[in-house]
Amino acid sequence: MSIKNLIKKLPKAELHIHIEGSLEPELMFKIAKRNKIKLPYSSIKHLKTAYNFNNLQSFLDIYYKGTNVLITEKDFYNMTFAYLKKAHADNIKHAEIFFDPQSHTSRKIPFKTVINGISKACEDGKKKFGISYHLIMCFLRHLSANEAMKTLEESLPFKNKIIAVGLDSSEVGNPPKKFKAVFKKAINYGYLTVAHAGEEGHPDYIWEALDELKVKRIDHGVRCLEDPKLIKELVKRKIPLTVCPFSNVKLKVFKDLKKHNIKQLLDNNLIATINSDDPAYFGGYINDNYIGIQKALGLNKKDIIMLAKNSFKASFLSEKEKRRNLEEIDKISKEL
Ligand code: HPA
Ligand code: ZN
Repeated sequence: MSIKNLIKKLPKAELHIHIEGSLEPELMFKIAKRNKIKLPYSSIKHLKTAYNFNNLQSFLDIYYKGTNVLITEKDFYNMTFAYLKKAHADNIKHAEIFFDPQSHTSRKIPFKTVINGISKACEDGKKKFGISYHLIMCFLRHLSANEAMKTLEESLPFKNKIIAVGLDSSEVGNPPKKFKAVFKKAINYGYLTVAHAGEEGHPDYIWEALDELKVKRIDHGVRCLEDPKLIKELVKRKIPLTVCPFSNVKLKVFKDLKKHNIKQLLDNNLIATINSDDPAYFGGYINDNYIGIQKALGLNKKDIIMLAKNSFKASFLSEKEKRRNLEEIDKISKEL
């Protein structure tokens, strides 16, 4: 079996996907039209020329404009179901999906519209494709802790639909500790916690996410390699990293895929995983990320199997579900 076929055949979990970042230009235009919203782009082609980013902020500025077309439950449903179709084509068996309620409630879209559209699509994806899922509600870190706290309270009627809270948006200047009280309360309500840290931000932000926000996983976290004590701690505490190779190159965290550090992360015994982040903006879904990084770094079949296994180990699935998926991977590896 070629390594490309192995990548396609392996069951995988995706743990770092912003559902708003899966909104493809074609669907964005279609939804804008039916909602009578004027996009600041004359065509899909024109929109795509704007997808040329210098850093995280230049991406976020465009990404938040794209989310403005989402108004009705159907919009959220269509966006989510389109992602699940792509996920199914890539043999994703489990997805832990981020959503940003504040991008919508700030535009007077009710929390309920957002969560119902997303979760109905996930339920249908589960029935139709057999993809299990969890939802993770992210706070926008460029907004205040007070606003995050309000969003946390707003989520409570839908708590049974949300497994964890996370932290995304502009990292530098918005350290994890800004949200210490919010995360403490979220944990008291029974949510698990994750946070974006060490994407552009200093490794100290990863320490803060661990110690102040008590996260179970770090999103990105690639800058941890700058701090040997931190590497040791992440290994000791078995904290996985949800790494997004295409995103890191598009947002200039690494100059190109050949310079990416995921192999070093694995060599340091970190539980690194591969994810797509915002696939509609960064040029590919999960298999594209696996295939791209495999080629660039010359990863072998053992590395690929390790990455697929890590995706389930790092998930919030039950031990039984983790085992079932890991056994599937073992079966395929034995056939090699
Ligand atoms: N980092 C921070 N915020 C985000 C990202 C990211 O990679 N994608 C969508 N929101
Ligand atoms: Zn992200």
